[in-house]
Amino acid sequence: MLTLGILGSGSGSNMQAILDAITTGALDAKIAIVLSDHPDALILKRAANHGIPYAVMDCEGHKSKFPDSAQARTAEILKSAGVDLVCLAGFMRLVKAPLLDAFPLRILNIHPSLLPAFPGVAAWEQAVAAKAKETGVTVHVVDSGMDTGPLILQEKLEILPDETADALHKRLQVIEHRIYPMAITRYANSLKP
Ligand code: GAR
Repeated sequence: MLTLGILGSGSGSNMQAILDAITTGALDAKIAIVLSDHPDALILKRAANHGIPYAVMDCEGHKSKFPDSAQARTAEILKSAGVDLVCLAGFMRLVKAPLLDAFPLRILNIHPSLLPAFPGVAAWEQAVAAKAKETGVTVHVVDSGMDTGPLILQEKLEILPDETADALHKRLQVIEHRIYPMAITRYANSLKP
């Protein structure tokens, strides 16, 4: 069974989807710990409600940077929780060497676009602003770039005429919640000897 650690900055609906997939037996895993860079993030409340251990990362007052020291502490916490795969679920800081080196090829991310298109924040707004005809969802292995790294799974979505960015994000999230648990299973199976 996989032992997951989840990092998120926001509402944690993807963390909830992973948990739901575990509950139904669709994903053979457990969530050992949930970490957030925002003490008030809903993802932490969701973890508490389900009795999952959680903690706040101390990013030393930096608004968007993920300092090396915070990454090293995060790696320690994940290791001591026995985590073997880290899932970024709406985590909005760039992961670099201290964490990547502690979990080589063992950190996944979900992003609401067909990467390499529209990396970074609010990809759904970027897609609408660019008048794109389609976008989608990507699950990939994390490297030191922003929303880069080997692809695991992608699903396309047609953008409707006059669709608002919010409406598009809602439809993208339905896809996210379905494919993240599938992608985790697919990737974990690919790692088996
Ligand atoms: C999701 O749409 C996720 O794909 C996106 O943040 C949202 C978090 O929602 N992540 C990124 O944009 C990463 N670059 P959630 O907190 O409800 O899972």
